Amino acid sequence: ETGMFTFDPGFTSTASCESRITYIDGDEGELWYRGYPIEQLAEQSDFMEVCYLLLFGELPTKAEKAKFEWDITHHTMIHEQLHKFYSGFRRDAHPMAVMVGVVGALAAFYHDSTDINDPHQRMVASYRLIAKIPTIAAMAYKYSVGQPFVYPQNDLSYAGNFLKMMFSVPAEEYKVNPILEEAMDLIFILHADHEQNASTSTVRLAGSSGANPFACIAAGIACLWGPAHGGANEACLNMLQEIGTVDRIPEFIARAKDKNDPFRLMGFGHRVYKNFDPRAKVMRATAHKVLKELGVNDPLFDVAMELEKIALEDPYFIDKKLYPNVDFYSGIILKAMGFPTEMFTVLFALARTSGWIAQWKEMIEDPTQRIGRPRQLYTGATKRDYVPVDNR
Ligand code: SDX
Repeated sequence: ETGMFTFDPGFTSTASCESRITYIDGDEGELWYRGYPIEQLAEQSDFMEVCYLLLFGELPTKAEKAKFEWDITHHTMIHEQLHKFYSGFRRDAHPMAVMVGVVGALAAFYHDSTDINDPHQRMVASYRLIAKIPTIAAMAYKYSVGQPFVYPQNDLSYAGNFLKMMFSVPAEEYKVNPILEEAMDLIFILHADHEQNASTSTVRLAGSSGANPFACIAAGIACLWGPAHGGANEACLNMLQEIGTVDRIPEFIARAKDKNDPFRLMGFGHRVYKNFDPRAKVMRATAHKVLKELGVNDPLFDVAMELEKIALEDPYFIDKKLYPNVDFYSGIILKAMGFPTEMFTVLFALARTSGWIAQWKEMIEDPTQRIGRPRQLYTGATKRDYVPVDNR
C-alpha cells in the first residue's frame, strides 16, 4: 500500500507503481477516485470536494470542506511580479507554452519556502498550486487576446471564479451563468485524476528526484500537451472542423483504418479503456444539456454524433475496441461555452493539477519511495574500437 515505484528486474521496462488514489478497470469501464465511482462524484459532488478527496483520501465533513475552500480561495491571487512573465511571450504563443513557463516560474518564487520534507510546506505548495492554476490559466487567455488580466473574486465558486477571470471585461458587468458554472465544475471533476497516465507518471518521476513540486507540475503540463494525450481535445475539435459535414465522415473513417496513413480519429481509443470511457458517457450527457440550454445548434455536434454512431457500428473499431474517450465530447462542450480550441488542453491541465499534486504527495510521503530509474533493453551496436577520422 505505498506510492513507490517498482521496476521489473528484467528488461520489460514496464515501470509500475502502487497507489491508493485512482482505480481504473479498462474492460469494465470503471473509474473510481478513492473508491468512489466517477458517475456518483459527477452526480453528487463538486470539484473542491473532489480535490480534498484526492489529496486526503476521504470525503470532507462540512467543516473540513468549508475550511479547505476558504484556504484555496484565499490563495488564488498570484504575485504581481509574475504578471511580468506573460509579456515575454508573443501574443499568439500557445497558452500551453505559457502555462509551462509560468507554472515553472512559481518554483523560483516559492523554491526557498518549499521544503518537501516538511508536511506543512508540502500542504502549502499543494494548496497554492490548486488555488493559482485557474488564475494563471485565465491570464494566459487574457494575454493572448490583449485584454486586461482579471483578478480573482473570493465570493465566487472555484469554477465561477475561473469563468469570470476568463470572460469578464472591466467595461461590463459579468454574471456567472449557473449552467456554465455547473458544466465547468463537472469537466474539472472528470479530468481531475486518471491513475498513472503519461503526464502523471512524468510528475511522479520528476518528483522522485526531490525536485520542487512547482517544477514537477510544469513537467506534467508539458507532457499533457501532446495530441496523443491531453492535446487530443483540441485535436479532436480541429478534426471535426476538418471533416466539416456528415457526408465527409466515411473519408476520414477510411483514413483511420489505413495503416499507411498516420491519421487517427482524435477522441477515440485509449491505452487502458477497451470499453466506453466512463467519463465520455457523463460528458456526452453534459454536451447535450449545455448545447440545449445555450440554444447552440452546432453542426460540429451533428458531425460528432454521426461519427460516434458510425465508429461504434464499424467492425474495424469494434475489433480494435476503439470507443470515444473523455476528449471526444469535452471539446464540443468547451467550444459551446466560448473557449477557443487552444485553451482546451489548458483546462485539462487546470483540472489535472489536483490529481498530479495528490499523486506527487502520495509518492513523497511514502517512506520506501526511491528515485525513479526506468530500465531499457539495449539494441545498439556491440562493443567496438574507435576509428580515426582518416580511416573512416
Ligand atoms: C487521454 O492514459 C490516460 O489515462 C490518458 C487520459 C487521461 O485521463 O490522462 O485518459 C487522457 O490521453 C485520452 C486519449 C486521448 N488521445 C486521443 O484521443 C488521440 C487518439 N487516440 C490514439 O492516439 C490512441 O487511441 C491512444 C494514444 C489514446 C492509445 O494508443 P494505443 O495505446 O496505441 O492504442 P491501442 O494500443 O489500444 O491501439 C489499438 C489499435 C492500434 O492498431 P494496431 O497497431 O493494433 O494495428 O487501434 C489503433 C492503433 O493503431 N488505434 C487507432 C486509434 N487509436 C488506436 N486507430 C485509429 N484511430 C484511433 N484513434
